[in-house]
Amino acid sequence: MSELINKIYANLNYQKQFGNLLYVDKDVKVKDLKNEFINEEVVIKKEVKSNNISKNSVNKNWDKSESLDILRSNIHNCMECELGATRKSFVFGSGDPKSKILIIGEAPGADEDEQGVPFIGRAGKLLTKILEAINFSRDEVYIANIIKCRPPENRRPTKDEVDQCEPYLKKQIELLNPEFILALGLTAVNTLLKGDYKMKDVRGKVLEYEGRKLLITYHPAALLRNPTWKRQAWEDVKQLRAMYDEYMGKNS
Ligand code: URA
Repeated sequence: MSELINKIYANLNYQKQFGNLLYVDKDVKVKDLKNEFINEEVVIKKEVKSNNISKNSVNKNWDKSESLDILRSNIHNCMECELGATRKSFVFGSGDPKSKILIIGEAPGADEDEQGVPFIGRAGKLLTKILEAINFSRDEVYIANIIKCRPPENRRPTKDEVDQCEPYLKKQIELLNPEFILALGLTAVNTLLKGDYKMKDVRGKVLEYEGRKLLITYHPAALLRNPTWKRQAWEDVKQLRAMYDEYMGKNS
């Protein structure tokens, strides 16, 4: 009798821990219950996620957009990948649409997601200072990211997310028609160049991206973590300023 009572108590305890979903009225070890619990959670999450992806959430002719404003309105409700379901804002980009300089980061973070503007959090404030150090205000350049929606926990964007979102950036580049692109960090570089470069392979050089000059420097978030890299970043942006001045001297 006392064995039966113990079993009932043990089962009630399992039920309290894991809920009715996993309550089993038989001798099951806690370890097995945990495994079931974890598997169950994964299945539930997968279902929720796939339900949230809805194709055709952008205007089907978005790639024919004739201005940045039209492009933005054609794609800003995008739900073509999982990030659509978790974002607060679609962070399209900001700055002067006529600028000859496009700066490309990785993905919006929490502040950007909150306000819908790229690079306004801690890393963004550093980027603003870096630009000011070479006598540019944020409004004189255009700033965008490889992907438009914040990945949860600020994780790196997945390949699928990048593949889904990169065509929007390409269209943005076509419409902006910048002379110079400054890529911030390796996600931006390796997405644009379809490579697996390390910073030492690419920074300090003038590369090319679809007929535009591509310069590379550290992501400001990396500079916040490793302030000793700031000196090299300073050299990189000075080079950008010098090339820009030379170009404007010849073309104005
Ligand atoms: N980091 C990025 O790459 N982009 C932002 O917009 C903000 C932080």
